[in-house]
Amino acid sequence: MATGDEDRLLLIPGPVPVAREILQALDTPPISHTGAQFAQIFGRCLERLAMVMGNESGKTFVFSGSGTLAQEAAIVNFVEPGGRLLVASNGYFADRLTEIAQAYRLEVIPLQAPWGTSVTAEELGSQMRRHRPTVVAFTHVETSTGAMARIADFVRIIREEGALSIVDGVAALGGVCEDMESLGIDVLLSGAQKALGMPPGLAILGVSPRAWSAYERRAEKPRAYYLDLQRWAPVMEDPQRYFSTHPINLIYALDAALAIIEREGLDARFDRHQTLAERFRGALLGLGLASFTEEACLAPTLSVFRLPQGQRSASFRQRLQHHGVIAAAGLSDPEGRVVRFGHMGNIGEGEVAAAIAAVQNALAG
Ligand SMILES: Cc1ncc(COP(=O)(O)O)c(C=O)c1O
Repeated sequence: MATGDEDRLLLIPGPVPVAREILQALDTPPISHTGAQFAQIFGRCLERLAMVMGNESGKTFVFSGSGTLAQEAAIVNFVEPGGRLLVASNGYFADRLTEIAQAYRLEVIPLQAPWGTSVTAEELGSQMRRHRPTVVAFTHVETSTGAMARIADFVRIIREEGALSIVDGVAALGGVCEDMESLGIDVLLSGAQKALGMPPGLAILGVSPRAWSAYERRAEKPRAYYLDLQRWAPVMEDPQRYFSTHPINLIYALDAALAIIEREGLDARFDRHQTLAERFRGALLGLGLASFTEEACLAPTLSVFRLPQGQRSASFRQRLQHHGVIAAAGLSDPEGRVVRFGHMGNIGEGEVAAAIAAVQNALAG
């Protein structure tokens, strides 16, 4: 029987369970953040991360922070005052992109889809022709609803209409293809604690050559200090340079996480996420839960359900916890019946089977 949360299976949509190999990497004494040894490890991380992002021709940035900081970095560096940001939103984290832009007094055009669905490519195209945004941002996987955007269509339309794309890949990178070069993504932002399988604490950005040229053409520099990517760019090119101290131990962990990804292979990793998602969803639907997310836009990294009539999310999750699994509440759930499960990172069949059994037991009372 589990004793504390750390003994339970953490199946919220991030943070995720962390593999022993990654935890062991954290437990290594810090070394100099500007020394040759650290530069070698950090440089290797940047190279491997560029491969995961399909961004070998662009720039990759990693610094202390979280997904929200990466969202903020993307907006403050690539949306200029006087520019216009269209946010295709279908949930809580895309709305956060809007809130960040508004905090910087940038002009935002909202394009809303109901929670559980996604904006359609047609709606995006028509709103772009109408409002002529300079930048379009959207969440690839919306963690509040489990909905995944049609990234290839979106990015193609954004390019055709002459804008830059900002893709929030916080709940996607490492679990579903986000190949910047083949898809044509301009800015891809992410965090560590989801499909990369790491503990939280890193802000990650991929910037295409086209987006970097747009940065360089800006009429004025971003109104930011830590987040101005120009300050970080020389460090990412030569990690022996200093701008701000790196989270050394998290970089060790990133190195271990990326080694796991390299060993598994990206395609195999994406297949595993898809297979486990289908198995988990099939079983829970069979147990009487209903998908909160529209069938056409189900993400491979997390699943969101409505419990059967008469079940309450809070008490269900408490019983689930008693059976060794931690799930998350809905983020907009007036009836109190929504439950969210993550199935991303380095989890396997064993965890999914344990989660299905725990759900069955929790439903039984
Ligand atoms: C899609 C998405 N974007 C942004 C964030 C914010 O990330 P963080 O909580 O690491 O600041 C999250 C967090 O869950 C997310 O899922």
